This record gives sequence, structure tokens and C-alpha cells, in this order.
Amino acid sequence: MNNFFSENINHIKNLTKDEFESLYEFTEILNSATRQDSLIEDAIDIVIKVINAERGLFVKYDEAYDTFSIISARKISNESITDLHEFSSGILQKVIKERKPLLYHDVMSDPHLSQFESVQIQRIKSVIGVPIVREGKVWGVIIADSQLDRREFTEENLLFLSFFSNLVSLALDRILKLEELEKENQILINRLQLTEEIPEMVGDSAAMRTLAHIIHKVALTDATVLITGESGTGKELAAKAIHTLSKRKEKPFLAQFCGSIPDTLLESELFGYKKGAFTGANNDKQGLLEAADTGTFMLDEIADISIALQAKLLRVLENREIIRLGDVKVKKIDVRIITATNKDLLSLVKEGTFREDLYYRLNIFPIRIPPLRERRTDISLLASHFIKKIGKPEMVIESEAIKKMENYYWPGNVRQLLNVIQRALILCDGNKLLAEHIILEDAADLENFQGTLREFEKLLLKKRLEELHGNRTLTAKSLDVSVRWIQLKLKEMGEQ
Ligand SMILES: Nc1ncnc2c1ncn2[C@@H]1O[C@H](COP(=O)(O)OP(=O)(O)O)[C@@H](O)[C@H]1O
Ligand SMILES: [Mg+2]
Repeated sequence: MNNFFSENINHIKNLTKDEFESLYEFTEILNSATRQDSLIEDAIDIVIKVINAERGLFVKYDEAYDTFSIISARKISNESITDLHEFSSGILQKVIKERKPLLYHDVMSDPHLSQFESVQIQRIKSVIGVPIVREGKVWGVIIADSQLDRREFTEENLLFLSFFSNLVSLALDRILKLEELEKENQILINRLQLTEEIPEMVGDSAAMRTLAHIIHKVALTDATVLITGESGTGKELAAKAIHTLSKRKEKPFLAQFCGSIPDTLLESELFGYKKGAFTGANNDKQGLLEAADTGTFMLDEIADISIALQAKLLRVLENREIIRLGDVKVKKIDVRIITATNKDLLSLVKEGTFREDLYYRLNIFPIRIPPLRERRTDISLLASHFIKKIGKPEMVIESEAIKKMENYYWPGNVRQLLNVIQRALILCDGNKLLAEHIILEDAADLENFQGTLREFEKLLLKKRLEELHGNRTLTAKSLDVSVRWIQLKLKEMGEQ
């Protein structure tokens, strides 16, 4: 409460019935106002009406630059005023300096005020000004004035205005805080959308945020994408996300797993065939690439396809044309191609089992999905996500259980985590998943290892090779040794 207010609390009875009613009316406006501009306009209108002023002005004061800006200025006729020069900045300055309501009568004859040009031009007789104080600082000023031919303002008017300004600053305070919260909320929502907009893809780690950002960007284009990452990291999920976020989202998304499928079967699946193309081809059949026309097609585990099929795929990528098996008709298709692999394609190119030209056609936009062990902060989020998905929303996970999962190596990545959670839910009777419910394969043999260093080396190498499907290049990389070292060790162990 400012001094003026407390000094004059006894004079409250001096307020007229009209003024009381206006204060009451205004408290209602204050309670329902949610935006500062409408609050201020209503405030000015009330001031003009109650104290019978000619003009009312609400300026915001910027203390750092000692400047004012008009927030609202109105005439009794409800017109707006936009030029601050029409008002006396001297009076504004005085209110700010003295931080209390001021009333001037007979302005024209006051030598301190009549020097202001605006007072002369507007032929102002009396002026009333009150500061709006917020958090101990002058936030703004309300000024009202009246011209020569009108009634003078009274002390009661001044009293009314000071009550009124206190109410305004209370309401402003509430609205400004609300606006700050809204802004903060918007920022949080935007942050959430970054990851949430990726359909079904959970993760808040820096790696997943970057991935989400990249997926959003590449989804806007038709670029061929090569997704790499260990098995179970979410490559298929990422491919679906690219499709769902692209302009092709209403069109088909089809995927073909290319690993360990006989060549001819894979070929007829991809390209389709003409009746009589081979024994058993009793009808014409559309291939998946054709069925995915105008949509997206994913070739999963691309590293495993034969050299012959690689050549056919190259043609699809170069010309977007397909020919059904046994047919001569060329068909144009418009598909976005996404491929995925858990192998290091470039080393396969070097080994000569993967065509270099095809590699470059596929690798137009590479996306690497990091293994789960490189984004351990996602583990608890993913675990909760799977628990909800499996339909046990009331289940909680004790922190020991989370710790156990966070310390694990996750060779099978997110897919393995899903399995572990499924298993844990079967084992758990109550509503709390405990560490003992989390069963991690093979964790024990390395963790509680009792043998020699040489035996440990052997165990680790075997385990890592197993996890990486016998891929020596990847194993060497993950153990930070050379492929040659691995070959020597295997020889030493009598494995080769
Ligand atoms: N970030 C993720 N959020 C939620 N589920 C995921 C995530 N990553 C993978 N999964 C789930 O893990 C399993 C394996 O994912 P998938 O895309 O098939 O992996 P990949 O193709 O790399 O082997 C699927 O059930 C998938 O839904
Ligand atoms: Mg997969």
C-alpha cells in the first residue's frame, strides 16, 4: 500500500456513490481480464467516465531508458490518440519522480506547467496523474485531463484514482505473471513437440533430440535415406517416422526385410511377376515396390541382398522404373526409398560384396541411430513407455531396478529392453518392478568374473562377436582394437 492510500483510507467515505460503483464494476473487470491491453483500455474508459475527463492516457514507463510509450489513449468520444506529444510529458515526469498521485488545477496559469506546449495547445485546465506501481517500481502512469470549459477535477477524484490505480496494478501483476507462465508453457510445449512429434519414438537424450531434429528435416524432402544402427535400435521406427512426417503420409508405407531370404523370392516380392514367369506363377502379381507407388518403401537389412539383385535395385534408384519378372513392360514408379542396415556397408564395399555405385545411391542422407548404451538416460523413459504400452499404467519401477538397467550393456538395444520389461512384468506380482524382476542375459558372466585376464579377454571378445553377429570390423571398432588383433586372438583361441 502506498502512503497516499493509507493516509487517505479515512477519506474513503468521501468517494461518491458513482465512484464506489465504478470501483466495484472495475473489480469485476479486473477479475475476469486476461490480457493487459484490454484491461488497460477498460481502465482508461472508466477513468474518463468517472472523473468526467476529456482525455485519458495510459503510458508504460521504461525505467532503463527513462522513456514512455503509449499503451492506450482515449478521448471522451472514444477516439484513440496515438501521439504522446499531445500530452504533457512534464506532468508524466513529475508523477514518476514523486511516485504519487498529483492533481493540478488551473494549469494554464501555473508557471511550472504552462510552459509545456501541449498544455497551451490543448487549452488544458486541470490534470490528474497517478502512478501504477508494480514490485516497488513505477510501471506506468495514468493521466487524465480536462479543458478550460469543463469542471475542475476534485480531491475526491484524486482519491478515487489512487484506489483505482492500486486495483489496476494488482490486476496487471496477475496478468503479467499469467502471460509469463503462458510464454514458459509455450516454450515447454515446443520442446516436448520436438521429441513427441516423432510418432511412437521415445527418448529425451541429446542423441535422440538430434535424431528427432534430423528426422523432421529429412521428412520434408524426398531424399533417399540410409539408416544405420545396431539391431533393435529403432531403425524401422525411424523409417516409419520419416514417412509419417512427410507429405506422403496418407500414401502407403511398405517394408521388406531383405536378410536371409532366397534371391528369387525376394525379387518376386519386390518387383512382382507376370503370369507364367516361372512355375507356380499362375497370375500376374504386383510387387511391393509397385504397391508402394506414391508412398515410401523401406528395404530393411539391405546388406544381405545378392549382387544380382543389387544391380536391379540400382536401376530402380536411377530411373524409378521397374519391370515385373517375366515381363517386358517398364513401369514408372514414384517411391521414396529408405534402406536400413546393422552392417558397415562401406566395409562391405571394400570387401567387394556390396556395389559401390549402389552404396552411394542409397547413402544420400545417412542417419545413424546410436545404440542404447550410448543414450542410457533414455532407459527409464523407454521402460515406463513400454510398461504403459503393455497396459500396466499403475506400475512403478524402483530406482534400484532402473540403476540395474542403466548399468547394462544392452547388446539387443531397445528391442531387448522391451523383452526384459515384458519378462519383468510377468515376474512381478505387485505394483512395483524391483531389481530382482529385471533379468539380464549374460550380465553375470562378465560382471562376477573370477578368472584370469586372458580368460576375460577371451570371454569379452566372444561375447562382443556374438552381439555383433560375427562382424569382425564392428567388433574391432567396439573394442578399440584392430581387425588384425581379433584375427590373431581367434587363432590363438583355436577358433580359426
Ligand atoms: N525410441 C524408441 N521408442 C519406443 N520404442 C522403440 C524405440 N526404439 C525402438 N523401439 C521399439 O523397439 C523395437 C525394435 O525397434 P526396430 O525399429 O524394429 O529396430 P531395428 O529395426 O533397428 O532392429 C520395436 O518394438 C520398436 O517399437
Ligand atoms: Mg529392423
